[in-house]
Amino acid sequence: NKKKDTSDDDDDDDSGSSSSTIVSDAKQTQLLEQAAAQAQPFSRHQAMVTPATRSEFGDFQVNAAMGLAQALQLNPRECAQQMVEQLRPKIAQIMEEPEIAGPGFVNLRFKPSYLTNAVAAMANDASGRLALPAVAQKQKIVVDYSSPNIAKEMHVGHLRSTIIGDTLCRVLEFVGHDVVRLNHVGDWGTQFGMLVEHLRDEFPEALQPSQKPVDLGDLVVLYKAAKKRFDEDDDFKIRAREGVVKLQAGQPEELAAWETLCAASRVEFEKIYRMLNIQGLQERGESFYNPYLKDVVDELKAKGMAVESDGATVVYMEGYTNRDGSPLPMIVQKSDGGFNYATTDLAAIRQRTLLSASEEGGEQADRVLYVTDAGQSQHFQMVFQAAKQAGFVPTNARLEHVPFGLVQGEDGKKFATRSGETVKLKDLLNEAVKIAGHDLRSRNAATTNASYLEQIDRIAQIVGIGAVKYADLSMNRESNYRFSYDRMLSLNGNTAPYMLYSYARICGIVRKGSGQTDDDDDDAAALSSLEWPAAANIVVSHETELELMRNLVKLPDVVAEVERDLYPHKICDYLFETSQKFNQFYEHCSVNQAETLELKASRLTLCVATAGTLRLLLNLLGIEVVERL
Ligand code: ARG
Repeated sequence: NKKKDTSDDDDDDDSGSSSSTIVSDAKQTQLLEQAAAQAQPFSRHQAMVTPATRSEFGDFQVNAAMGLAQALQLNPRECAQQMVEQLRPKIAQIMEEPEIAGPGFVNLRFKPSYLTNAVAAMANDASGRLALPAVAQKQKIVVDYSSPNIAKEMHVGHLRSTIIGDTLCRVLEFVGHDVVRLNHVGDWGTQFGMLVEHLRDEFPEALQPSQKPVDLGDLVVLYKAAKKRFDEDDDFKIRAREGVVKLQAGQPEELAAWETLCAASRVEFEKIYRMLNIQGLQERGESFYNPYLKDVVDELKAKGMAVESDGATVVYMEGYTNRDGSPLPMIVQKSDGGFNYATTDLAAIRQRTLLSASEEGGEQADRVLYVTDAGQSQHFQMVFQAAKQAGFVPTNARLEHVPFGLVQGEDGKKFATRSGETVKLKDLLNEAVKIAGHDLRSRNAATTNASYLEQIDRIAQIVGIGAVKYADLSMNRESNYRFSYDRMLSLNGNTAPYMLYSYARICGIVRKGSGQTDDDDDDAAALSSLEWPAAANIVVSHETELELMRNLVKLPDVVAEVERDLYPHKICDYLFETSQKFNQFYEHCSVNQAETLELKASRLTLCVATAGTLRLLLNLLGIEVVERL
């Protein structure tokens, strides 16, 4: 009926008015239908459905009415009313009667019956997926992360990339995508000339093809020595330049030296990956793309994108300028013929998205993520734009840089040891484990449970490494992050130890509530021996139970949000919120002294669903859980 009003209001229009009315009719239905579809829970990511700004308002709000009203020249509250009419039948199973508030907000609140069923289903899912279905549209997603450089130290930036990248892979894989984890190690480039020549003098056996592994000692020391010679000795510099050419040409001695360096670095990287429990990360370094670089440059030239400039080959793109306003070139081939970081990334994009397995082993990915520090943002923007312009990317493929901020010391300055040197990652991780071990031992000084004490080292590993990971992941990745052992290992606040204790505490409640007593002799299984009781009917006896459930059913949204926006801190925020809701519930509702058996079983089911949520999400963050701490 509103359509009539619109056309009536328009009556000063000329003959065109009737047709414009028809157009706006179509639009109105379309828009309202869209809004209705969007109003379902778990699809709040569409523009007009958002989580309620305050939990008193309900769980979600539909904000579309105001905008629609303006577009359609309707009264916003009436527009909201119309929307409610459309929404009501579609959401009646899940939501209470919608409420219209203020200028035309539609507030939606879960029905208790929906909450109890949904949470019971979560608790009932023995697979650990908490009743979350896998995506309908499976994508192939390449995640380029970690990517340290051969013969150089893996630094805190690579640590962040490794931790964030690993979590994103876990989330995307959990959601149901086909994830390819790629380690784009820096294993190619001019620096290898000086390294190879240095080895020729210091470790000649490293130049013998197919020799047994040669111990090169500390690679950082080696790198520094080679660099010093390169900077100070002109003859060495010439040899180094020739060395690169020989390596590029695949000469056996140079290749053997290069392989020795790569193998030695790999051993170091592997130690870190093992400590962090990084799995499935394939090394596909810069050298992999070397055979294709010339092609890439030729193609850019043929397309008129690459031009000569001072002997180098460069690409100019709209929107990129130096500070003085002059165009900023992206160099794809240096004047000495060498190729650049950008050239390799262009070849990699083509191989990852456009080419099929029969050409260069192409991946044909739908989505490619690059997890690096924010300092490389412009590099990726330029490379992405050039790749698209050159037709190296199919139109449906998405390239995304996933930037992160710097790691700083507690004082906000550069992260370094007290004497100002760079911190070795192995030391950093070991220190966290050591502190966690100290804490655990002092807190369990009175414990006589032998099986527990035997496992304390393993638990310290989980807590210490977990703390490093969680501290990184709980920050918005784009901000700089201050590294602090005190903060990350604190039992209070949004930290791994807090979350791990919350989990263990719920396990304790369930163990007692389901009659599984502590078995001190059962050493092997002490950290994960709990049998989770089957889900019971949930009965609501207190407001805090509802509040906990309203929070638990948001899980699919949180996961979907991370899948889309790639911000792991959303998982940490949600974990923290969930454990707080659990604490409030437990403060008011005793499990083991529940008034009736039915209530006890119901509350145990809430415990099972909460524990499952914590376990799943901590695992997605790469953190193992234990049932006792
Ligand atoms: N090796 C680079 C670094 O240490 C990171 C590589 C990132 N990946 C890429 N495709 N460019 O900064």
